Amino acid sequence: MTQDNRATFGSKIGVILASVGSAVGLGNIWRFPYETGQNGGAAFLLVYCLCVLLLGLPLMLTEFFIGRYSRKNTAGAFQVIAPGTKWNLLGYNGVIAAFLILGFYSVVAGWTLEYIYQSLSGALSGKTAEQFTQDFNLFNSGIFRPILWTFAFIALTHFIITSGVKSGIERSSKIMMPILFLILVILCIRSVTLPDASVGLKFLFHPDFGKITSSVVLSSMGQAFFSLSVGMGCLITYASYFGKNTNLQKTALSVTLLDTLVAILAGVIIFPAVFSFGIKPSAGPELVFITLPNVFQHLPLGGLWSFVFYVLLAIAALTSTISLHEVATAYILEEHHFTRKRAAFIVSAGVMFLGIISSLSFGVLKDFTIFGLTFFNFLDYVTAKIMLPFGGMLTCILVGWRVDRKILKAELTNKGTIPFYFFNIYAFILKYIAPVAIVLIFLNELGLFKWIEK
Ligand code: PFF
Repeated sequence: MTQDNRATFGSKIGVILASVGSAVGLGNIWRFPYETGQNGGAAFLLVYCLCVLLLGLPLMLTEFFIGRYSRKNTAGAFQVIAPGTKWNLLGYNGVIAAFLILGFYSVVAGWTLEYIYQSLSGALSGKTAEQFTQDFNLFNSGIFRPILWTFAFIALTHFIITSGVKSGIERSSKIMMPILFLILVILCIRSVTLPDASVGLKFLFHPDFGKITSSVVLSSMGQAFFSLSVGMGCLITYASYFGKNTNLQKTALSVTLLDTLVAILAGVIIFPAVFSFGIKPSAGPELVFITLPNVFQHLPLGGLWSFVFYVLLAIAALTSTISLHEVATAYILEEHHFTRKRAAFIVSAGVMFLGIISSLSFGVLKDFTIFGLTFFNFLDYVTAKIMLPFGGMLTCILVGWRVDRKILKAELTNKGTIPFYFFNIYAFILKYIAPVAIVLIFLNELGLFKWIEK
């Protein structure tokens, strides 16, 4: 595809919604609550917000810059920014991360399909909190069912990817994201009016600073990168489809705010319910799947609510999986000159392979561990806590140190037609703060440099 006839998103709102679609997903509604639950509640939220503001937002803007400036896939983009150098390896970090994330994300996305089915069949009602936990564990430790749903989800993603950028990605985001938002607000209201809701709200909003340990900081940073879809060039790929009039600053700010808002809304839904129904906040990946059915049971027409909710959760997951899939597909398509269909097929097949092992790691393969982590947890850890922050750090260094400030500013201000009041602060963060902060967080977790105790 040449630079000029490269696909673009069709409208301003389409641009924002597609990027929000990538950012808002299982990361906000499934991963954020369980990470918060395992990392001390409000203390985690506080560090998370700092990471979003200081690292995530500047990095998102930088990825938008790289993508729209180069108008290339993730790997190709770095060749435009730093031609003839090894910086393009950074693009590969992103492409591999996309594969690995899809390898566990599709499994959880598959769980949402099971829950849609159970909402319809009535299996999600009339149970105690304990029964929900037991039944979930029985389901996800099984063999065929979870794998079948994973397959179904990958097939759905594959179908949208092969129908292309405008009709597939943009249209689906435009319709679904606003509905998801509305239903989250309704669930929030139900959850905060449950008995003992205040205990959950306190857990989420009242920080105990003593709980901030090195692994809490690493987890918050990983969650911020994961949730905002930054650090692996996903938004580079999307920004390569932006039009030249897209306001990159506003888009980055809107996406960041909406993404954070959705995560906090999810927390406000989950934690009051967790304490109200006597579930452990540190339950881990199953947290959302064992908490929410309890909330639905306490709503009139609970089955209907749960059906609508899981459909929307599946859609939120889908708008994220298509963005992940697109990173790898666009790379194979543009760099290796495959047709879109063939490129997408290669990606889907690879992801399915990883998905099967991840899914089985809750059951028959639970004793197969890598560095003490199950395959599912290993993929999650390596991508969110290592590859994304590492990729993000190098991206900041590349753009902060190598790119001409005039080029950077011209792209971020649409050739001087819109102001960028905080450009100097942004450039300073990119050059110094973000790389140093990320390195310190890594060193601290590795125990090589102590500024926060384990
Ligand atoms: N941000 C997505 C979520 O929160 O569910 C997950 C994700 C999508 C991560 C795209 C990384 C990415 F490139």
